[in-house]
Amino acid sequence: MYVCVCLAVTEETVNAAIADGARTSAEVTAACRAGGDCGACHEMIQSMIASHERAQKKRLRVIAA
Ligand code: FES
Repeated sequence: MYVCVCLAVTEETVNAAIADGARTSAEVTAACRAGGDCGACHEMIQSMIASHERAQKKRLRVIAA
């Protein structure tokens, strides 16, 4: 599925950028170009970053338990 239609960037590519350390829309744009045109996908990118961070915190809680 495309996250960024303007630049044809897929969900997999955005998730890879986030997994590689991008933590803001600007960092995702720098990493894979998603969000670098009209900006309509910024909300989706932010949601994907937040989801990744929630999953990371959950993993840390499991490891700490
Ligand atoms: S949909 Fe991503 S910049 Fe337009």
